[in-house]
Amino acid sequence: MPLPKAELHLHIEGTLEPELAFELAARNGVELPYADTEELRKAYDFEDLQSFLNLYYELMAVLRTERDFEDLANAYLARAAAQGVRHAEIFFDPQAHLARGVGMGTVVEGLWRALGESEARHGVSTQLIMCFLRDESAESALETLEAAKPYLDRIVGVGLDSAEVGHPPVKFREVYEAAAALGLRRVAHAGEEGPPEYITEALDVLGVERIDHGLRCMEDAALVERLVRERIPLTLCPLSNVRLRTVDVLADHPLPAMLDAGLLCTVNSDDPAYFGGYVGDNFDAVRSALGLEEERLRELARNSFVASFLEHDEERRARYLAEVEAYRF
Ligand code: ADE
Ligand code: ZN
Repeated sequence: MPLPKAELHLHIEGTLEPELAFELAARNGVELPYADTEELRKAYDFEDLQSFLNLYYELMAVLRTERDFEDLANAYLARAAAQGVRHAEIFFDPQAHLARGVGMGTVVEGLWRALGESEARHGVSTQLIMCFLRDESAESALETLEAAKPYLDRIVGVGLDSAEVGHPPVKFREVYEAAAALGLRRVAHAGEEGPPEYITEALDVLGVERIDHGLRCMEDAALVERLVRERIPLTLCPLSNVRLRTVDVLADHPLPAMLDAGLLCTVNSDDPAYFGGYVGDNFDAVRSALGLEEERLRELARNSFVASFLEHDEERRARYLAEVEAYRF
């Protein structure tokens, strides 16, 4: 039985496995510029975040109907459950779909068909976080929030993703203020490729409660001290960092140093179809590459539930935490 855990940094579009991509392409009459899954997999050799994003957005062309989003989410939830995920807070990128003529309703209703049944089918509780693409304009983010208004009962919070460098958090001050006024929780990618200053700005200007990645905080001792003091969770994605070359090899990952510093770290999969593994695979990989001891793994699992947006159901959080404490490796 795998260690029980929450997944807090997972882009649902990044769970599109090559096999499903071809199946949906055939179903929707979409032509992919790859002969087969093998040729597609050969494109998964990324230089950096942008080179990954190019493929990530290209493959989204196959996602067209509610059923496509439902199938995508169901496939993820089944795999996540098999790796010990008990709770998942799932990102989606509506602007990438709206730009292709796929409406907000299609995306949210489709995902919801799977999420609404997830507890019964997979034993996984779920929440949805809508991300704004930081390489699109601030106006586009505001329009996206407006388009989401009919669906806010299904969306727990907002996030910020896509190409980081050159798109500082401050660009999205207004939309984050509007999201806060609507009662939405706030997170943002920061310090993945971008500088530590983006982490500070996400906290101070956008009022985020968690930082996605946050790896580059380690370049600023005062920032680390602040993140520890304020108990700001960081949603790390070790296999993603290696595939996108923010760390050279997993053995060099700063996770052990981050835990030693007292940071509230969690381990997640980011875009598992592209980066070589789901969240349990990330746990296994850091365990063997970094020699993490069992109590460190338990700490990571505990942190995932502590950092999750389960304030509406503290009983559930306590139940999950008890499962972590009772786990025998
Ligand atoms: N969108 C999907 N995965 C992402 C990542 N790792 N960083 C930024 N944007 C993303
Ligand atoms: Zn991410």
